Amino acid sequence: MIGRLNHIAIVVPDLSQASAVYRQVLGARVSQPSPLPAHGVSVVFVELPNTKIELLEPLGEMSPVRGFLDRNPAGGMHHVCYEVDDIIAARDRLRAEGARVLGDGEPRLGAHDKPVMFLHPKDFCGTLIELEQA
Ligand code: CO
Repeated sequence: MIGRLNHIAIVVPDLSQASAVYRQVLGARVSQPSPLPAHGVSVVFVELPNTKIELLEPLGEMSPVRGFLDRNPAGGMHHVCYEVDDIIAARDRLRAEGARVLGDGEPRLGAHDKPVMFLHPKDFCGTLIELEQA
């Protein structure tokens, strides 16, 4: 059911410092930071040949990644995002398998303006999974 790895998201305390690490130390192609107030993050996209890394810095007091950064002050890997062809069919299959979909179970528009949903890490090897309709 899951397809390509769309991105890996890493929450960081300092987006410009993290960008410099990826650009200068790792030699990656790194975008300018984009504030996404609707999502409570500022994001930098690291373009790799086969996928993307998203560096996320909390934006605003209601940021959904604020708590993660409080627990992981140096930052850390936050989620992986897999593509699916049909997110409603994916949700229904996952529920039938007993997996927990976070929130009300309705997809919402993610950072790429495509429908996304998140799956409970305890059902997936301790990893928060985002599904994005490709
Ligand atoms: Co994501």
